[in-house]
Amino acid sequence: WNYHVTHFVTSAPDIRHLPADTGIEVAFAGRSNAGKSSALNTLTNQKSLARTSKTPGRTQLINLFQVAEGIRLVDLPGYGYAEVPEELKRKWQRALGEYLQMRDCLKGLVVLMDIRHPLKDLDQQMIQWAVESGIPVLVLLTKADKLASGARKSQLNMVREAALGFMGDVQVEMFSSLKKIGVDKLRLKLDRWFSE
Ligand code: GTP
Ligand code: MG
Repeated sequence: WNYHVTHFVTSAPDIRHLPADTGIEVAFAGRSNAGKSSALNTLTNQKSLARTSKTPGRTQLINLFQVAEGIRLVDLPGYGYAEVPEELKRKWQRALGEYLQMRDCLKGLVVLMDIRHPLKDLDQQMIQWAVESGIPVLVLLTKADKLASGARKSQLNMVREAALGFMGDVQVEMFSSLKKIGVDKLRLKLDRWFSE
């Protein structure tokens, strides 16, 4: 697929406002500030397709992007950000949980984690949930440019080791939007999910 022609479709506060549950969707999930929106922009080679921000919690809605007819990428609200009002947090988490559990066209989940702080509780829950639902996972260790290559590799090996424990289809790769690391691996995986 040509990800460069991806365009914005809609933002929804919850799954009831999403378009019909048909075709194939791959969602990008992760803690607030992990680099989800940046990864989408890097993949699609567009500067501001998905809105990015230094302030965690920028993406508060389920944002849908269309690569081609029936082929969509989804930017999910980040989880785990402590400093938003409790009620708003609950609202996002509910929207997120509903999307993950009820969206039949979801065929793959990209879980993004800052390479310096991987596998927090909610990250693990996310992977666990996907594995239990039979949804394949690609873990991207983001902001790899922030570590020297030795430290990068040891983080990658550590997370790969941990990923084996999930007993599911969980692939782990390094990623950097800044230095364009791992973009080919991401594209290959998406191509596979979108062709099944
Ligand atoms: P929420 O929408 O709040 O959940 O965040 P997000 O996961 O979409 O993160 P976003 O893409 O907005 O990026 C958060 C911050 O990290 C921004 O300041 C980005 O510039 C920065 N960032 C993202 N990717 C990279 C990367 O590969 N390298 C570096 N150094 N910084 C990055
Ligand atoms: Mg975002």
